Amino acid sequence: MYPLRRNRRLRINESIRSLVRETVISPNDFIVPLFIVEGKNIKEEIASMPGYYRYSLDLIKNEIRELWSLGLKSVLLFVKVPEDLKDNSGKEALNPDGLMQRAIKTVKEVAPEMLVMTDVALDPYSQYGHDGIISNGKILNDDTTAVLAEMSLSHARAGADFVAPSDMMDGRIFEIRSLLEDEGFHETGIMSYSAKYASAFYGPFRDALDSAPVEAQNIPRDKKTYQMDPSNRDEAIRETLMDIDEGADIVMVKPGLCYLDIVRDIKNTVNVPVAVYQVSGEYAMIKAAAEKGWLNEDAVILEQLTAIKRAGGDMIASYFAKKAVKLIS
Ligand code: PBG
Repeated sequence: MYPLRRNRRLRINESIRSLVRETVISPNDFIVPLFIVEGKNIKEEIASMPGYYRYSLDLIKNEIRELWSLGLKSVLLFVKVPEDLKDNSGKEALNPDGLMQRAIKTVKEVAPEMLVMTDVALDPYSQYGHDGIISNGKILNDDTTAVLAEMSLSHARAGADFVAPSDMMDGRIFEIRSLLEDEGFHETGIMSYSAKYASAFYGPFRDALDSAPVEAQNIPRDKKTYQMDPSNRDEAIRETLMDIDEGADIVMVKPGLCYLDIVRDIKNTVNVPVAVYQVSGEYAMIKAAAEKGWLNEDAVILEQLTAIKRAGGDMIASYFAKKAVKLIS
C-alpha cells in the first residue's frame, strides 16, 4: 500500500516549486509611500521606523531616481506640515504653493512617468490631528468633504495622477469625483481608502508626520467615529461598494496583515483593482524583531508581501517596497 497522492513531488526542488508557484511578487505590484518635509538637505530617520526617512524636496530627487531605476513606478506622497501652518480648516492643504503641491511637481520633474498618488486627508494639516474639521466636539462630515474635494483638485492641478482619500468621511468620493469632473480633470484617478480600520498599527506613521490626535474639545484621541471598527467584516464590503458607486477607480484595505480576510472578501466581491496598505506598525514590528535577532527580516518581508498578494491584493503600498524589489531581483 502506498499513498495515492504524494504532494511532496511538487516540492522536491526549486525548479518544480517555481513551476507550480501561484503567487509571485514583482516591482509592478508596489506603491512606495514617501514622507516629505520642508527645508534643505534633510534626510532624517523616523525613530519608530528604522531605515525609513523624511526627505526635503532637494533630496527626494535622488530617491525618486533610485526607485525608478529599480522598476518602482508609483509613489504615494505624504507631507509633514510645519506646526504654524496647522489649523482647524485645512486652509494650507489648498495652497497651490504648499509642500504637497511642490512635491508633486518635483517628482514629475525628475521622473515624468512616475505615477504620483497623493494622500488626501486633513490630519497632517489639523491642529487637532484629526481627519476632519471640528466643531462643538464633533468631526463635521460634510464641511470636511468639501475641503477634501478642493484639496484633491489642488493636487490634480499640481500634476497628481491619483488622489488617495484616507479620511473615511461619508460621501467624499462623490464630492471629489464631481469636482474633478467639473474642472476637467477627467483623467485624474481616485484610489480610495475604502476599508480603513481604526487601527493601533498607525502609530509610527503619526510619529513620522507628527499628526497624532491631541486632547481637544472633548474629542477622543482616537479616530473611531470615522475609521472602521476592527471587529467588522460586512461593513468593509458596504464601505467599499459605496466608494465604487461614488467613483473610486481603485479601492484599498488598510492595514494589511491583520485584515487579509477582508482583502479576500473584497477581492471576491468587487471588479475594480484592490490595493492593500502594509502600514507603519507592520513595518515597525518586523524591524524591531529583526533588530533583536528574533526574525529573519528579509524572509519575513517577502513572506508577508506574498501573503498580501495571495489574499487578493492587486497592489501593495509598502515601506518595504524598495527592499523587496532588491531581494527579488
Ligand atoms: C492619514 C493617514 C494615516 C495613514 C495613512 N494616511 C494615519 C491615520 O489615519 O491616522 C497611516 C499609514 C501608516 O500607518 O503607515 N489619514
